[in-house]
Amino acid sequence: MVFIKYFFKNIKEYFKKLFFVLKYLRKNVNIKKPLHINEPKNVLIGRGTSIDCFSRLDCYSTSNNTSKIIIGQNTNICFNFTCLSAGTVSIGSNCLIASNVFITNENHGLTPGNSSYSSQPLIVSDVYIGDNCWIGEKACILPGVSIGEWCIIGAGSIVTRSIPSFSMAVGNPAKIIKVYNPDINEWINVKE
Ligand SMILES: CC(C)(COP(=O)(O)OP(=O)(O)OC[C@H]1O[C@@H](n2cnc3c(N)ncnc32)[C@H](O)[C@@H]1OP(=O)(O)O)[C@@H](O)C(=O)NCCC(=O)NCCS
Repeated sequence: MVFIKYFFKNIKEYFKKLFFVLKYLRKNVNIKKPLHINEPKNVLIGRGTSIDCFSRLDCYSTSNNTSKIIIGQNTNICFNFTCLSAGTVSIGSNCLIASNVFITNENHGLTPGNSSYSSQPLIVSDVYIGDNCWIGEKACILPGVSIGEWCIIGAGSIVTRSIPSFSMAVGNPAKIIKVYNPDINEWINVKE
């Protein structure tokens, strides 16, 4: 009996994933396998976007089941991308997400005591990344962060606060080091 339940659960998951990949194949979305995906119906991807192998797109079911991962058009997501969403994670169009990037909008409860962290309810704060951003290798984007358009996030940065458009931010915690001046087409150093 347990085996039959296990078998049907796996078959169901397999077809959900297959349907997801086929649906996006028609939209010229290139998704490389292996892909870990949870709640594929909550993941929306724009035309021409690519997601490299070993990526993890996890939408967690919540009581109102509104968790979403939204990715715009022609965004290029490299190897081993992890995105965990219990609310909304929105990534714009024409973005470049380098390898090993981690984005989440959720924390577990933070209270030591009666129940383990993993069994405490999730605390959700949505994440938005604007169009035309470049997120460097191994960057982490944490809950509640909004990143404007045309931003550059340095490799290995941990982004804990929002970053306005046309900013370059690096480090842990990420700080803005340059802003783009469109009048002279140059990135200008930000004084400490
Ligand atoms: C953010 C980045 C684009 C900045 O490039 P740049 O404008 O040429 O930067 P600079 O060399 O002028 O560096 C400016 C300062 O920021 C520091 N810095 C640059 N990148 C940094 C990073 N990722 N983390 C921490 N500090 C960084 C530099 O050490 C320098 O500090 P200093 O002024 O104290 O010497 C680049 O360093 C970077 O991280 N690129 C991502 C690369 C990547 O992930 N490639 C994958 C291909 S998709």
